Amino acid sequence: MFLKNYWYCAALPEEITKNPLRRIICNLPLVFYRDTNGNPVALEDRCSHRQAPLSSGTIRDDNIQCSYHGFVFNGDGKCIYIPHQKNIPRRAHIISYPIKEKWGFVWIWNGDPKLADQNKIPSLPWTKSPKRSPVFLYYYVRANHQLVADNLLDISHADYLHSDTLGSKSGIMDGPKPDKVEFRTWTKGNEIHSFRKLTNVEVASYPKKWGKFINNVNRTNIQMWEAPNTVHVHLEFENKENKILINHDHIMTPETETTTHYFMDFTRDFGLDGTKYPTDEDIYKEQYSVITGDDLPMIEAQQSNIDLCRDAIDVPVKADKLISDVHRHLAKLYKLQDIGVPSYIAGKN
Ligand code: FES
Ligand SMILES: [Fe+2]
Repeated sequence: MFLKNYWYCAALPEEITKNPLRRIICNLPLVFYRDTNGNPVALEDRCSHRQAPLSSGTIRDDNIQCSYHGFVFNGDGKCIYIPHQKNIPRRAHIISYPIKEKWGFVWIWNGDPKLADQNKIPSLPWTKSPKRSPVFLYYYVRANHQLVADNLLDISHADYLHSDTLGSKSGIMDGPKPDKVEFRTWTKGNEIHSFRKLTNVEVASYPKKWGKFINNVNRTNIQMWEAPNTVHVHLEFENKENKILINHDHIMTPETETTTHYFMDFTRDFGLDGTKYPTDEDIYKEQYSVITGDDLPMIEAQQSNIDLCRDAIDVPVKADKLISDVHRHLAKLYKLQDIGVPSYIAGKN
C-alpha cells in the first residue's frame, strides 16, 4: 500500500523524549522514546504477548516495559524479561526500526534494514547554514498524503488561495497581471523538477514585509520532488530594492490512507538578528496560520469530496504539469514494488 525502502520523516526531535510517543506511520503502529544516551529508538508499538500498545508502558533506562503483564523490550526489539519465567521465546521479540536524527527532523527507515543508508535521507543543508535561520513545523492532516503533496506541487494556488498572505495577486480574475509567466518541468533520475517565474508582479503582504518591498518584484519558484513524498521549494523575491531567499521543504508521511503527518521547514536568509521582524517566532506564527487557515481546510475538504464521489476525475490544466509528472513517476515506483497503483494517483491525470 505504501512504498518500502525509504526514509520517512517520523517526528520533530523535541517530540521524542524519555516518555513513550505513539505514532502510526504507513499503517504501522510505532513507539518512539530516547535511551539513556539521548538516542532515539523506534519499535513497533505492539507487545508480542497480547498486542497491548507499549506506548502505554514505562521507559526503564534503555528499555520499555509493557503496562499489561510487564514484558520488557530493549531498543533492538529483543524481549529481555518475562515475569515468572526464565525462558524467552524468539517469537517474543518485536521489530525495531532504523532511526536517524538529521537536518532538524527524525527519520525512520521503512523497509529492509540492511538497505537503510543514511545518505538517502532527503538533503536539507540550508537548515544548517550559518547564513540562514530555519523554523520547523508539524501539522496533522485528515487527508491522504498525496493530496497534501499535490498542494505543494501546484504552486499556482499561491496566486489565489494565498493572494493576501504569501502569494501574489496574479491569480485574481481582475487582479494585476505579471509581465511574463514562465513555467517548465523536467525529470532527472528519480527527481522531478520545476521552474516558475513571475516577472514584475505585485506580491502579497508577507513577502512585501519580509523584503521591505515597495515596488513589484520578480518571484521565482524552483521546486524538486523526491520519493517517497518530499517537496523542496527554493523561493526568491527580487527587484532593485532587495533580494530575499527562502528554502522551504515539505515532507508528507502517511499515517493511514486518509491521514498524514506533515512536516515542514521554512529556512530564510533575512531577519536573522533575532530581535526585529521577522523573528523565528513571527515566521512560525505566519506559516502556521496560513497553512492551518488556508491550505489544510481546503485539502481536508477535497478529501471529503473524494470520499463521497469516488469516480470523480480531475481536469488538469497547464499549471498542473508538475503534479502530473510526479504522479506518473510514482505510478512507476509502485509498479516496480509490485504494489497496486493507488486510486489517488492512477487515472487522475
Ligand atoms: S500484553 Fe504486554 S505483557 Fe502482556
Ligand atoms: Fe499553500
